Amino acid sequence: MPSGGKLLDPFCGTGTTLLEGVSVASRLYGADANPLARLITSVKLSKAPIGSEAILKSIERGIRQRRKEIKSHHEILSRWFTKKDLNDITYIKNRISLIDNNCLKNFLNVCLSSILKDLSCADPRIAVPVKLKDSTYPEDHWYRRQSLKKITDFGSKDVFNEFSRRVLQYLNIKQQQNYSENFYLFEDSRELAYRNNHRTLQSNSIDFVVTSPPYGTAQKYIRSSTFSLLVLDLHEDLSMSELDRKIIGSEKVLISDRSAPPQQTKSRQANKVITDVFEESPYRAHLYATYMNEMQKFLEESYRVLKPNANLCLVVGNNQVSGRLFETSEYLKEAAGLIGFKTTGHFIDSIKSRGLMTRRNSSSGLIAHEHILVFQK
Ligand SMILES: C[S@@+](CC[C@H](N)C(=O)[O-])C[C@H]1O[C@@H](n2cnc3c(N)ncnc32)[C@H](O)[C@@H]1O
Repeated sequence: MPSGGKLLDPFCGTGTTLLEGVSVASRLYGADANPLARLITSVKLSKAPIGSEAILKSIERGIRQRRKEIKSHHEILSRWFTKKDLNDITYIKNRISLIDNNCLKNFLNVCLSSILKDLSCADPRIAVPVKLKDSTYPEDHWYRRQSLKKITDFGSKDVFNEFSRRVLQYLNIKQQQNYSENFYLFEDSRELAYRNNHRTLQSNSIDFVVTSPPYGTAQKYIRSSTFSLLVLDLHEDLSMSELDRKIIGSEKVLISDRSAPPQQTKSRQANKVITDVFEESPYRAHLYATYMNEMQKFLEESYRVLKPNANLCLVVGNNQVSGRLFETSEYLKEAAGLIGFKTTGHFIDSIKSRGLMTRRNSSSGLIAHEHILVFQK
């Protein structure tokens, strides 16, 4: 990418790639369907906020003097937090919402979001909320002792102390990080449209697209963010299922008729595997066809916004579906070729850490390699 150009990560997650791009790009664009991911990215890319210490003092005073119970809007949360903790969390959240300075407000919301899982009774080793029980880890499991401690400690932490520690820790990190004054975040990689404004990102304007899209069976991005989305009211009255449907690779896609064969994709190779899978599992065949068709829209949108001769770099993984190899990398190459992209690179790397991977079902398998594809417009 030419130095000083425009960089786009259309599946930006929590913005690590864009943050790396700050030193080379003059303008950064990201997209993510998860509102929490967009919030974290915007905080990562922004300057360190001013005024945290004063706000912390005022929150501490308020929280210590508070007498009244505060009602949280979301009944679900009372299953995961003690009443006292939920009261404190809601107090802090309400206090943050009164702040005018958006940079500070967003930063403090991210800090609050980051302590929620730890305060809850959810298993810290699983991305989505699952209640931690005495029986979750057997006697000989390495996590047994910590899990029992976590159960005993539930509800005994001081929420304000946890929050204020996190604020100081993140402030320290932010003060050492690069930031950008020129970034914009979209909601959907399939249509890079400005919010409340009918314009889309300009065609032929981007110098480089680099991204790591969701896999065929995506991680449960929305469910993993449930606590934060509800506490911070980021879901804008959509249910978790409705938000999930915006995620490419989600298992929440609406399939009107599973007995009918799925829609064809632009990749003949993918269609062949999907037809075979359909015999055994119509549902999974529909999921993969939908995934490919949604990825097609993302490829077309990337093609539209890229400047002529500019590159799109993708990191993807192949899947197992119903015991068959689903070679996403090959199918995307085929689909990209039909749009007009030229494949100029295909590199394969082994995935060393699988710490965050959750096995989706017995037939989907773990992803051991990642494929780095380079397409030129
Ligand atoms: C593999 S992750 C990207 C991780 C990212 N590189 C990071 O460092 O955090 C894929 C991301 O795509 C997002 N996503 C899924 N469907 C999307 C869509 N239609 N538009 C934009 N983002 C989407 C998910 O929410 C998730 O954050």
